[in-house]
Amino acid sequence: MTADSTLFLRQLITNPRQVSAISPSSPWLARAMTAGLHPGIGKVVEFGPGTGRLTEAILARGVAPADLTLFEMNGDFVRHLRTRFPGVQVHHGPAQDAPDVLGEGTASKVISGLPLLSMPHVLRHAIVSAAFAVLAPDGAMVQFTYGPRPPLSPQALDQMGLHAVAGPRVWRNLPPARVFRLRHNVDRGGAQG
Ligand SMILES: C[S@@+](CC[C@H](N)C(=O)[O-])C[C@H]1O[C@@H](n2cnc3c(N)ncnc32)[C@H](O)[C@@H]1O
Repeated sequence: MTADSTLFLRQLITNPRQVSAISPSSPWLARAMTAGLHPGIGKVVEFGPGTGRLTEAILARGVAPADLTLFEMNGDFVRHLRTRFPGVQVHHGPAQDAPDVLGEGTASKVISGLPLLSMPHVLRHAIVSAAFAVLAPDGAMVQFTYGPRPPLSPQALDQMGLHAVAGPRVWRNLPPARVFRLRHNVDRGGAQG
């Protein structure tokens, strides 16, 4: 077992509700979550990085460490991330802090590894609202779920002026996952990625 997996397992046992997944994302899911990122894309934000499986995939796409900000609530994960990813800003606090920390409309992508579907609706709504507060108008939030359901119901998304586009199922992940891209309705049919 790798050091990352051991840390993940320890946090899962100590904070099962916060971690809410049986293992870190696989490299296949990490690639699907970061598709479309490229050097010079601008500011990228990650919610709930855990041990950094998606973080390493974001950086591998050519995003500069200085352009990446992570929001993680778990102190042990935060210490690990700060050591592992020098130059990346790691905020020790909830994703909902993002607009206060970063300002509004500054990011091109929010990549979220949060267990949104296992959170109460009010919290889910607050997190998606925080993502769209920091995103530029044509930005997108990328979120996986472990079932066929999107991270918020189509009605809830519609009330927020958003829609979700589902990608193919990623079978090589435990459990298999699906990637959703959330965007403003006005951007429907606009650029993908
Ligand atoms: C399922 S793990 C995902 C870890 C990693 N992104 C991956 O895909 O392997 C969820 C992570 O979200 C963090 N988390 C839970 N609620 C959070 C919140 N409101 N804001 C920021 N991080 C949160 C947990 O501490 C945990 O690290």
